[in-house]
Amino acid sequence: MEYDSHECDVLVIGAGGAGMRAALAALEKGCSVILLSKSVLGKAHTVMAEGGIAASVANVDSKDDWKVHLKDTITEGDYLGNWRMAEILAKEAPDAVYELERMGALFDRTEDGRIMQRAFGGHTYRRLCHVGDRTGLELIRTLEDRIIHRNVQVFDETVVTSLAMKNGRVIGAMGFHMRTGMFAAFSAGSVIMATGGLGRIYKITSNSWESTGDGIALAFGAGAELSDMEMVQFHPTGMVWPPAMRGLLVTEGVRGEGGILYNSRNERFMLKYSPKKKELDARDVVARSIYYEIQKGNGTEHGGVYLDIAYKGRDFIMKKLPGMYAQFMEFAGVDITKERMEVAPTVHYFMGGIRVDPDTCATSVKGLYAAGECAGGLHGANRLGGNSLAEILVFGKHAGEHASDYARHAAMQRVGGDAIRKEALRVSRYLSGAKDRVNPYPLVEQLRGNMQDRLGIIRNRDDMERGLDAVKGIRSRLSKVGVAGTMEFNKGLIECITLENMLTLAECMFLSALERKESRGAHTRSDYPKKSRIWKVNITCTGRNNRIALSRRKLTEPPEELAGMIGEEHYD
Ligand code: FUM
Repeated sequence: MEYDSHECDVLVIGAGGAGMRAALAALEKGCSVILLSKSVLGKAHTVMAEGGIAASVANVDSKDDWKVHLKDTITEGDYLGNWRMAEILAKEAPDAVYELERMGALFDRTEDGRIMQRAFGGHTYRRLCHVGDRTGLELIRTLEDRIIHRNVQVFDETVVTSLAMKNGRVIGAMGFHMRTGMFAAFSAGSVIMATGGLGRIYKITSNSWESTGDGIALAFGAGAELSDMEMVQFHPTGMVWPPAMRGLLVTEGVRGEGGILYNSRNERFMLKYSPKKKELDARDVVARSIYYEIQKGNGTEHGGVYLDIAYKGRDFIMKKLPGMYAQFMEFAGVDITKERMEVAPTVHYFMGGIRVDPDTCATSVKGLYAAGECAGGLHGANRLGGNSLAEILVFGKHAGEHASDYARHAAMQRVGGDAIRKEALRVSRYLSGAKDRVNPYPLVEQLRGNMQDRLGIIRNRDDMERGLDAVKGIRSRLSKVGVAGTMEFNKGLIECITLENMLTLAECMFLSALERKESRGAHTRSDYPKKSRIWKVNITCTGRNNRIALSRRKLTEPPEELAGMIGEEHYD
């Protein structure tokens, strides 16, 4: 069998912000780097974090500093976040922003020429350094320029199907190039997973097609521990109309710039749910409030609520939110300088993921590192807007540096021909010509509907048990799943692989959500409406004998000095 073979010190899987930042850090350390992308370079879900990068540079509110950022991150994560990761994030985010600026990112400016910052939900101060409403895009553009300039070896439209292992260590990855269908073996001293989240496992999501959780499933398959798999973030505001645009992000920047939410009775309902913070409470709070209003029959014609920024006037909107103006004008025929938007919650972010060491980003498997949305721990039960862009810069860099240190001392092991031949057989079984083969597309749709209906904003045991059974039912058909065609640019084949990954993740998510018998952050259970001390644990999943084993890990306590800054957690 002919296959493509490559070797490098550090292999980075995923070319969003975390992956590109990690690749640059590994280069700085003198390592050879290969960057793999399932999509084309520059097309990353990172661009969907529009409103800004959270960093306490204190240009707008001079009282801000890393300590307040740390406190906000932990308290709004409902005390489930890893304090050390939050400390690293809060301390290093300002430098990460300045570094990005030095690389060429053009931020909006204050009158006196400093980086402009805006308010966002759950942040005590105006903290989000931004570029209008396209900050993620500017971040990706800047890093991509660097990647191209530094001649990083990039293989785009390349699907990774397995990590290669030897003696319990990750020694590379295997997959195939979409364009040619040729299988490929990548041998590496260390591997960084930076594949982003899994929003596409749901029906209504802001996530782009790439976000199917592949990297999390691959790491799990290699033996890595996953954490907080029940923690899914519903962004309060996605588009609801027209149907094809349902779920598309309406940036929190709209509320940050003064946007007000109304129900169909013209009531500013956030005054009732959160009299102090109103529209700028944390995302879990605002998303739940919108959900309750719609459930009560106070929703709009298309099943959302109204978001109004028109009262700020055209000039203001065109300056601060040009992307939102274009998005609504083009897709919905709505002029947001004159009319209200219709919005409803949309799956936006995954707080769970691969469990990592807070300082090094090492996973529980030797040679494997993870950074960005596919790594869990930092955000606890709810992520603050803007913390993800900060996270990918800060932890992308950490992962790149530590994976380089590992690679330098690890003996290179080649991913052999036998392993790639076996992998090719495994993957190409989906191309069997069997007459009774099952089409993956309806199964994927079924899975998405199942997640949406049974692991949504408000959960309960019965729904989740039914949801878990449905996942198992779909899995029982996996052995018959197949598509026509060849290995070359076969979207159906990719759907088969994606389905396999998503089923593993869905099972972990339902099991973890059933296990957590309380309501905390984004995990709200109608049958356990209160938060409970005994659940101040991370629920973890590992694969054991083809089964998912759950365990509870008590959170480590922060040192006294930090604990004092964070403040005590309260229970009813
Ligand atoms: O609303 C937004 O612009 C999203 C930002 C984020 O998720 O960090």
